[in-house]
Formats: sequence, structure tokens, C-alpha cells
Amino acid sequence: MMIFSGTSSRLLAQKTAKKLNLSLSSLSIHFFPDGEKRVRIEENVLDQDTIIIESTATPVDENYMEFFLIADALKRSGAKRVTAVVPYMGYQRQDHIFVSGEGVSFGVIAKLAQAVGIDKIINFDPHSIKIPEFFSIPFTPLSALPIFAEKIKEKKWNKNNTVLVSPDMGGIRRIKILSSLLNNMPYATIEKERDLSTGEVSVSGSKGLDGYDKAIIVDDMISSGGTIAISSDFLKEKGVKEIYVFATHPVFSDESKKILQKSSVEKVFVTDTVQIPEDKKFPKLEILSVVPMIAEELKKQ
Ligand code: R5P
Repeated sequence: MMIFSGTSSRLLAQKTAKKLNLSLSSLSIHFFPDGEKRVRIEENVLDQDTIIIESTATPVDENYMEFFLIADALKRSGAKRVTAVVPYMGYQRQDHIFVSGEGVSFGVIAKLAQAVGIDKIINFDPHSIKIPEFFSIPFTPLSALPIFAEKIKEKKWNKNNTVLVSPDMGGIRRIKILSSLLNNMPYATIEKERDLSTGEVSVSGSKGLDGYDKAIIVDDMISSGGTIAISSDFLKEKGVKEIYVFATHPVFSDESKKILQKSSVEKVFVTDTVQIPEDKKFPKLEILSVVPMIAEELKKQ
């Protein structure tokens, strides 16, 4: 097995390779002044099982393009198989038409991934259950929820005074799985609305929230931080004293660092599916690693 990585997930790829007693295989990326890139595989991959580890967070389009160019270069160099570990795969929130006249952005991504010859995709916590159905190649959805469950057990937060909270109706499936990993910890949902033209979020109601001191908000990703900010304000209004957040993908766009650090949450736990630049880290942040899970999955190849 040969592991390659582009620029977006270099650390994650190095750690995964190390866990598998391998080192990263070599490729070069030349950056042209106009923003184009040229990718060259610098090893003999003929008839080899190859792996690309590359998340597609900000800058999402650039990272996608680089990912497609690496896959194409591997295929043209004779790789037998290309397995793509894309821990965070952008555009999943655009998995259907919200307003008539729109395209289906994630459908475009799925077509491109298959067109460049990727044989298999491994992804963490897809945004919805229909994501794998976009592909006619194998798609393995892994989840950070068992990692979150271990951390919650380690903290000894228990079901007597703690409730798991999904910040929107779309997260119910996720919260039910986590509840079952935690001896049926109670769960509740917030009803969140997003204004499709401004992107602003608001809370319109909730279910199952009353009577808890501690709340654990669980989400697939944090982008602007708006969802966490309004959900935690709402929980405080409901009388919750301590709020923690567990989210798989720290996309951290815009002012998220300021918003999250200023929010009423005690701590924000995320994973390393997305490499967080040093200047986007903040004191309330704790990063949990998905490396052991990726390594275990790759051992099955
Ligand atoms: C929405 O459906 C997602 O599950 C997240 O709640 C959302 O994408 C988070 O985005 P933001 O941090 O910008 O509110």
C-alpha cells in the first residue's frame, strides 16, 4: 500500500502512515502564478494499491481540484487501485435542490470523483444518509461518534443530569447513535431554521430539553459557528448550566474562532478530519484524533 497526500491534510496523512509503519510516498505539486497546479507522482505506482488522504475544507474548490489531479496522476501512472480517504468532503450540505433553479453541487463532486477513476471513498460522518447513494463505487462512512462517546465516558458525564442535543432536526440519527453508545443517555433536538439567502440561523423551538444541568451539543461540522452560538444561547435560556460541543469537522470559516470562544459553551471538542491552522485555534478547543480509525480501516484494504 502506498499513501499519498496533497497540501490540505499533510499532518493527518503523515500520522496515518506512521501508524501503519509506512512513510508518505512522494508527489510534487507545482503552483503556477495564475493559481493552476501541476501534480506529478514521483514513485513507481504500477499495479500498486494507492491511497490519497486529502480533506476538502477551505479553500474547498482548490482542495477538490488538487485531489482530482492527484487521482488522475495516479491512474495515468498505472496504479491498480486508488482509494480516497477524504475525511471531510465538502459540498455535502448541497445534496439536493433547496430552491428551484439550483444545481445539486454534491452530485457534481460525485461525478468528478468517479470520472478521474477513484475506486473507493472513505469519509467521516457524512452530512446525510443519502451521501453514499451519489456514488456507484464503494463508499465507506466512518464516524467520530465512538471517539466522542469515549471522551464523554472519560469525563464521567452521565445520564442523570446530562442531555445530548442535536442543533437541528437533520442530526437526530446522529444523536440516537451516540445515545445508544452511552447507555441510552437522553437526547433532545432544537429546531433550527436557516435563511437561505443570508445564511443566518435562528431557533424556532425544541423537544425534550427541560430539566437538565448539562447539555452536549453534537453536530457533523462547525463552519461559521452560528449554529453553536444560537443553540448554546437557547440552552442557557432553558436553564442549562454547562454546555459542551462535539463536532466532527472543524471547518472554522469566517469569525468562528471569536464566536466559539465568546459563546457560553465550556469546551468545543472536534476531530482532526480538517487540519486547523494555528491562528484559528482557541483556548476552549480540544482536538481528538481519527488517525487510529483511518489506520484500522486501511488495514482492511
Ligand atoms: C447543518 O445542517 C450542519 O449540520 C451544521 O449544523 C452547520 O453546517 C453548521 O454551520 P455553521 O457553523 O455555519 O452554523
